[in-house]
Amino acid sequence: MSELQTLPRHVAIIMDGNGRWAKAHALQVAQGHRRGTETLRAIIRESSDIGIEALSLYAFSTENWKRSAAEVGALMSLLLEYFTGEIDELDEKNVCIRILGDKDGLPGPQREALLEAERRTRGNTGLKLNIAINYGARDEILRAAKTLARKAQNTEIDPDGITAADFEAQLYTHDLPDVDLLIRTSGEMRLSNFLLYQCAYAEMTFPAVLWPDFSLDDYHRALEAFGARDRRFGGRNE
Ligand code: FPP
Repeated sequence: MSELQTLPRHVAIIMDGNGRWAKAHALQVAQGHRRGTETLRAIIRESSDIGIEALSLYAFSTENWKRSAAEVGALMSLLLEYFTGEIDELDEKNVCIRILGDKDGLPGPQREALLEAERRTRGNTGLKLNIAINYGARDEILRAAKTLARKAQNTEIDPDGITAADFEAQLYTHDLPDVDLLIRTSGEMRLSNFLLYQCAYAEMTFPAVLWPDFSLDDYHRALEAFGARDRRFGGRNE
C-alpha cells in the first residue's frame, strides 16, 4: 500500500453480513460471527502494518441485545475469546485499544477483559484500535449533552461559551480525528447509529461483500477509492 498517496487517518467499519454468510453456508449464525472475527483479525493487522492512525469497528450495538439469547451469548463469548487470546499480539504490535460504548452494561468477565485490554495498551503509540461494544451514537451524543448540562447547572461552564471542541471532549472518541472513511460491508447503505457525530464529513463506501468474505484486496480497493475522492468539507477546490 506504500504507493497510496492519501491514506485516511481514521477508518470506521460496520462489519455487516455475518448472519447472511452463515445462512448461505447452511451454518449457525455463531459460525458466521466466528468467521467474521477472522476477517477482523486480518483487517486490524493490515491497518497496523500500513500505518492507519485510527480504526473503529462496530462489534455490538445497543440494539443488538434484541437478538436471540443464543446469538448474544455467542457474540459475548467471541469477545471474551478475542480480548484474552489476542491481547499479547496486539500489545506487541504497539496497538492502543479503546472501547467505545457502555462497558457497565456488559457481563462481568467481558467488562473486566475489556478494561484490562485498555489498561494494558494505554501507553501504546501505534494503531488506535477502537472497538464499539454496547455502543449507540445517539446514546453517546445524549450522554455528552447531559454532562455539559450538568456542568452548566453547577456553573462550571457558561452555556453560551460551549464550543464544538467542548462537546467533542465528552464523546468516546475524544482526541481522535473525525472519521475519514466509513466502510459498510454486505451492500446495505445506512449508518445504523454508528459514529453519527464523527462521520459528519466521512467518505463512504458500501462494498457488496459479506463481512466474512471481505478480503485484504477489498480493503485496499476501499482505501484506493478514498484516495481518489475530492473532499471539499463544504468549501470549493478550484
Ligand atoms: C453484523 O452482521 C455483525 C455483527 C452484529 C457483529 C460483528 C461481530 C464480529 C465481526 C465478531 C465479534 C467481534 C469481536 C471484537 C471479536 P449481522 O449478523 O447483522 O449480519 P446479517 O445482516 O447478514 O444478519
